[in-house]
Amino acid sequence: MDQYPKFLLEKYPSLFDLEKRAKKRIPGVAWAYLQSGTGDEIAVQRNRKAFNKILLNPRFMKGELFPKMATIILDKRFDYPFGIAPVGLSGLMWPGAEMILARTAKNYNIPYCLSTVATQTPETIGPISQQNSWFQLYCPRKPDIRSHLLQRVKQSGFQTLVVTADVPYPSRRERTKRAGLKTPPKLTLKFLWDGITSPAWSRQVFNHGLPKLRTVLEYAESNKATKVFEELRAGFGGTLSWDYLEELRDMWDGKLILKGITHPQDAIQATSMGIDGLIVSNHGGRQFDAVPAAIDLLPLIVNEVGHKTTVMFDSGIRSGLDIIKALHLGAKFVFLGRGFLTGIAALGENGAAHVCEILKEGLYANMMQLGIEDLDDL
Ligand SMILES: Cc1cc2nc3c(=O)[nH]c(=O)nc-3n(C[C@H](O)[C@H](O)[C@H](O)COP(=O)(O)O)c2cc1C
Repeated sequence: MDQYPKFLLEKYPSLFDLEKRAKKRIPGVAWAYLQSGTGDEIAVQRNRKAFNKILLNPRFMKGELFPKMATIILDKRFDYPFGIAPVGLSGLMWPGAEMILARTAKNYNIPYCLSTVATQTPETIGPISQQNSWFQLYCPRKPDIRSHLLQRVKQSGFQTLVVTADVPYPSRRERTKRAGLKTPPKLTLKFLWDGITSPAWSRQVFNHGLPKLRTVLEYAESNKATKVFEELRAGFGGTLSWDYLEELRDMWDGKLILKGITHPQDAIQATSMGIDGLIVSNHGGRQFDAVPAAIDLLPLIVNEVGHKTTVMFDSGIRSGLDIIKALHLGAKFVFLGRGFLTGIAALGENGAAHVCEILKEGLYANMMQLGIEDLDDL
């Protein structure tokens, strides 16, 4: 962290400043993939609007304050109450992004959750993020693939498994279709042109190769790129049920988290099955356009299960103040998806650290304004 250039906080003081730079720096298809929601992207807007509506009334006259941002969840101490959410194809936004995220997680002592469909493997990432390594699972249909993948994850040092509940079917992303994103990313003329006009990104491709689903690639039987993608899509997902979760509970001896829960009844059911925590999330508005804002659902779920399990949150967080709002509404911890990748797309190696610095400063300043020293007091 010594080499983190502090002037960045003057130049790009918020995540919205980073968005402007990121958009110019990476290919249009990558930007579309990162930003997109599903349908008309109303759920993405709804998440943000709901945050903006939350107001907090500060108390003053408390003398000198020393806000503390460290927190303990799932028996582990983290230096901040935020972590890095799983993002598929992260290497499309910035080839090598997963390594940067893992280094940042280690340096700032925050969790990094590697996606099943990220472009780097648990074997590469686990040794970098070390004890801050979480793994997000899209559930394999075939039991032998499931056991093999879980074994790889465990052997790579991952202690926490995050199972994503809210992708029963791949969502429609109209914006990525319009932008011409092909899966897997293909060298089309448009993609080549994008590469020429995004030279910093192209240099990264040169160093790290085109983004590939490296973790799951070995499970494909076909060797034709387009077929492999379809095969993997059919092989990972669409099977998750309470029975499947129970099987995972029996197989995985680390912490087990369910992500993507929005309905209080699902939260009650998950908690009764002995999971260690859940992440209230609507996938950043990427799956179902009519879903309520995730932050509006958070207190309903905390009310039902907050005393029995660790309730965490993501979807729509863009600042330290947003984190405070989510903690105030009962979350014990939060995650950002787009925020961290936007930072890296804008600034490369320093991007994820810069996002941590923005969030840290925002948290500190607003805890001072609220007259609060401990996150628990929120
Ligand atoms: C580009 C992109 C890819 C994502 N891929 C995954 C994924 O592979 N697995 C998963 O559980 N969630 C995935 N998510 C959802 C995030 O983990 C997280 O729930 C969401 O980004 C939170 O909203 P935010 O972007 O507003 O912070 C993805 C999100 C984005 C933006």
